[in-house]
Amino acid sequence: MTAPLTTALPQGVAGVHALPAGHHDGPWDAVIVDPGVKERLLATAVLVLRHGRRLAGSAVAPHGLIVLAGPPGTGKTTLAQGLAQAAARALAPHGATTLVEVDPHAFPSEMLGESQRAVSRLFRETLPELAARRPHTVVLVDEVEALAVRRQAASFDTNPVDVHRATDAVLSGLDVLRARRPGTLLVVTTNFAEAVDDAFLSRADLIVRTELPDASVVPLIVADSLRELAAQWPELGGLAADTAVHERMGGLLAGFDGRRIRKTVHGALSLRLATAREPSLLSADDLLAAAREARREGASPYGEGG
Ligand SMILES: Nc1ncnc2c1ncn2[C@@H]1O[C@H](COP(=O)(O)OP(=O)(O)O)[C@@H](O)[C@H]1O
Ligand SMILES: [Mg+2]
Repeated sequence: MTAPLTTALPQGVAGVHALPAGHHDGPWDAVIVDPGVKERLLATAVLVLRHGRRLAGSAVAPHGLIVLAGPPGTGKTTLAQGLAQAAARALAPHGATTLVEVDPHAFPSEMLGESQRAVSRLFRETLPELAARRPHTVVLVDEVEALAVRRQAASFDTNPVDVHRATDAVLSGLDVLRARRPGTLLVVTTNFAEAVDDAFLSRADLIVRTELPDASVVPLIVADSLRELAAQWPELGGLAADTAVHERMGGLLAGFDGRRIRKTVHGALSLRLATAREPSLLSADDLLAAAREARREGASPYGEGG
């Protein structure tokens, strides 16, 4: 029998990556937030990953939990992935880092007990085994509210009871993981800020609440999106440097989340066939037309704009 090209991932694991790796650069710089927030994130991650084992058992031992909570499209997933790479770069002299991405959607079941047992196995067996492979391990549970809910519930509006059940499952899993592999870092994201209840608050080493970009940040996201396009089509370097255009776009896109701002800039390429064929023809008028159209469709339901 020939060996399979890819080894099957264990249940509930969406991806396993060895870091640092060049192609994981990008996300950390792509999210524009207060640099102090990034510093705290990175410092917390490095302390847990580098010294968590040595501190284990002491009164000041970190729990190894970082929580990112905030509305959709505010950069939580991107920040979490970027953090893993940034921490891996900082720790590279001491060895490599494994990033394990948990797929919370892998567990919904008609039988709640069954999915809870699967989650428990993930933390008791699968994650400790993966964490034994390299000196540092970051586990990302993205959208924790999807974990261990009934299939039916998962397909409708998430109910607060399910959110609490999911966070409880993660917290008890964290205790098991921490006992077996101190120094493992768990990064959890949630779209439900209310889900960050007392249990999370008391155990998280750091909670970052992501927010809609404020008026000064919107033009910076527009500029960054244009720089991304200019990396492919250098003729767009002028637009990428045109702060007056970024400001006008910023005025139109106030109240939008980061994802919609980036999508609006990219969407400007497909307003006309000519720019779709040849993106280097993109003009300030195209960008402003796309922003006006997005504005007519309405800002994010979380924003104050509309
Ligand atoms: N503050 C921000 N600055 C720059 N880009 C942002 C910001 N917030 C979100 N984005 C962009 O929006 C997109 C979606 O972000 P994502 O991390 O998936 O958000 P979330 O996980 O909170 O829903 C990404 O391309 C990200 O770079
Ligand atoms: Mg996300």
